[in-house]
Amino acid sequence: MRATFNPFRVVRVRSDVRLPLDRCPIARRLGALHERFRPLSGGALATYIPELARADASWFGIAIATAEGSVYEVGDSRQPFTIQSISKPFVYGLALEDRGKAAVLQRIGVEPTGDAFNEISLEASTGRPRNPMINAGAIAATSLVAGSSPEDRWERLLALFSLYAGRPLRLDESVYVSERESGHRNRAISHLLRNSGIIECDPEPDLDLYFRQCSIEVDCRDLSIMGATLAVGGTNPVTHERVLKASNVDEVLSVMTTCGMYDYAGEWLYRVGLPAKSGVAGGVLAILPGQLAIAVFSPPLDARGNSVRGVAVCEALSEELELHFLRAPRPQLSALRSRSTVRSLGSKRARLRAEREALSAHGHEAAVYQLQGDLRFAGIESVIRRMVNEGPEVQRFLLDMSRVTDLDTPSARLLLELCTSLAREQREVSFAGMERHPRLARLLAEARAEDATLPLAAIEDLDLALEWCENAILSDCGMKHDDHEELGLARHELLRGIAPDQLELLAGLMERRSFAPRQLVVRAGEPGDELFLVVRGELSVLSEAPGGAIRRVATVSAGMGFGEASMLDGAVRTAFVRADRPSVCWVLKRSSFDSLDAACPALKIRLLENLLRSATTIFSRLTSDALADRV
Ligand code: DON
Repeated sequence: MRATFNPFRVVRVRSDVRLPLDRCPIARRLGALHERFRPLSGGALATYIPELARADASWFGIAIATAEGSVYEVGDSRQPFTIQSISKPFVYGLALEDRGKAAVLQRIGVEPTGDAFNEISLEASTGRPRNPMINAGAIAATSLVAGSSPEDRWERLLALFSLYAGRPLRLDESVYVSERESGHRNRAISHLLRNSGIIECDPEPDLDLYFRQCSIEVDCRDLSIMGATLAVGGTNPVTHERVLKASNVDEVLSVMTTCGMYDYAGEWLYRVGLPAKSGVAGGVLAILPGQLAIAVFSPPLDARGNSVRGVAVCEALSEELELHFLRAPRPQLSALRSRSTVRSLGSKRARLRAEREALSAHGHEAAVYQLQGDLRFAGIESVIRRMVNEGPEVQRFLLDMSRVTDLDTPSARLLLELCTSLAREQREVSFAGMERHPRLARLLAEARAEDATLPLAAIEDLDLALEWCENAILSDCGMKHDDHEELGLARHELLRGIAPDQLELLAGLMERRSFAPRQLVVRAGEPGDELFLVVRGELSVLSEAPGGAIRRVATVSAGMGFGEASMLDGAVRTAFVRADRPSVCWVLKRSSFDSLDAACPALKIRLLENLLRSATTIFSRLTSDALADRV
């Protein structure tokens, strides 16, 4: 047994930055809690395993590990002790992984007994232990650990525990020997399990493995990280290693909830409300699914074999931080961030006036749902209810998933069921921002594989999906873009209302330039002294976001222009423009524009009016983007 060290430990957070106690309220709370319960006396050391009676009753450590891998510790949080019964949920998980749920349930029940941990609670009819948290069930679970030899099984088990803890763990030889030599009751239990066929061969190797698992040396910090691994669905939040399949975590936490604290389970659930497990060496591990795990170490036990300080600390923390897991957390975020239409939420593609009018007239026929947060049943239900209640005029649905942090399978299935039924009514459904949702993407692909006619689409991002919707609406209005035909200058929006003679004058001042696809037309940082009037093709205005990502600011096509801002104020260009398709522009230099002061002031005024009108259109679109927080 290694020596202890000073009680008040500087708090350690994930990034190894040391936080002084005085600055971190959580550490301060933990320090205060340790201070409050350190004087708590009462309880006695376990003696039925003689080596355990050598523990120091004043040892007292607390550790909290969060879902994000931050660990807060105080007191003897690094004092090694043996894990004892807290090993049981982890071995039960391994049995589920090795044998599958059905085979395990066949041999071990999941009913709380209300009896002490070492009670011989076997079902009369089958001899099946009532649950995996009492010794009988735990020994049965250990017997299900796969392996080619006793050594192999032990190494697998120790490796698993080390993965949970995020560091190599080891056996406390002296406790193991002490338990093996004094474990007569467990030996009897193991033979009863052999007798009823729950264990199918000589039970001694399984019992020995059980004694070893109970004698694995951990400290509070290890236990808290092991618990946090279960809290976040089976991946170690510090090392990010997958340790247990998410599908088995629920079962482990369920039996910890109903049976983990034995004949104190009911009162524990009532007072503390966290799946938990205690051990006779003085450890207590409590888990708040999705959020954190609390580990407490203090050897003196109450009459039920639970650490006196351990129970007190968990009860106080649960009350203080309102951790009871049945307290329904109010969803932090509404699943539906916003519901708008293509009328109010436009793509970055600039549109000619006629197109803008058509989108303003028909944009309400495409509803845009921006979803967010972790989507579970409650969240997806609110979205589905809203979509189902949309009027018949809504012929298109666009679901932006880019802010959805997680979507569980049942919710993905429900959402897709609705979208498939909408699609069957020939109402188009498109998804954007799917890169974080492979599960939904797979279901979508399967639905389309089944019926390729279903108007279901997944589009890279919201902006392109909005453009897709707009193009579909415009095409319904018979307004197809033909960027092969070159637009005459007289029909150009920026040259609207200019008399033919003035137009001829202007054409004489401008230069016609052609651009190949992907050709850079202007670069950010260059002096801006030219106005580009697009008469054919399509060009995108792009800017580099912090972090280097290229963002589309706008896409312009025939009848639109770009470069007016820097041409007018002579500032350097703030974005670069690249041709997306073969494009043609008429280019007016600043000097030519200025020459109109003398040559034809009326033309300059008309040009300025049109440029101002186009600037206000861009401004109002940027405003609606900002309001939609799409900037
Ligand atoms: O089998 C035993 O009795 C011990 N190795 C473990 C018991 C235990 O930790 C009970 N927990 N409160």
